[in-house]
Amino acid sequence: MTQTPSSFRCVLRNVAFALAAFFTLVTGPSALAQTNDMADKGERIYNNYCQTCHGESLINSGQSFDLRKLKVSEKSRFENSVQNGKNQMPPWKGVISPSDMEFIWAYIRTLANDKEINVAP
Ligand code: HEC
Repeated sequence: MTQTPSSFRCVLRNVAFALAAFFTLVTGPSALAQTNDMADKGERIYNNYCQTCHGESLINSGQSFDLRKLKVSEKSRFENSVQNGKNQMPPWKGVISPSDMEFIWAYIRTLANDKEINVAP
């Protein structure tokens, strides 16, 4: 019994479908992948501008604010303090763009004490 060419094509098509479905599943955009991507960008920006005072991975020995304490509900406090500065912290308006601030916020959420992550709407 040899396979006819047409049923062989059918098998090939099924394999192609399965592969396509698999790659869509693995590489397709998901909310979680997007959040991770934002956090990665945020980490790079944080390491450039904020790490010297706020510490590696947000951990510092008390010389500045512990960013892990920020709650998910305190995003506007975060934005306000970063833009306008606070006491020893310089204002970042004009240095850190609004989108960069979103990325830093996403990074902070991944290390925050309350692990709640705000997913963009
Ligand atoms: C020159 C040191 C320094 C750098 C650089 C710095 N900070 Fe700060 N930051 C501080 C200090 C000190 C405080 C504590 C201010 C206070 O409450 O007196 C602070 C406080 C904060 C707060 C909390 C303010 C509040 O609402 O109580 C946030 C949020 C913050 N920093 C974010 C950032 C981000 C984001 C960056 C990088 C873009 C950054 N900081 C860079 C020194 C720094």
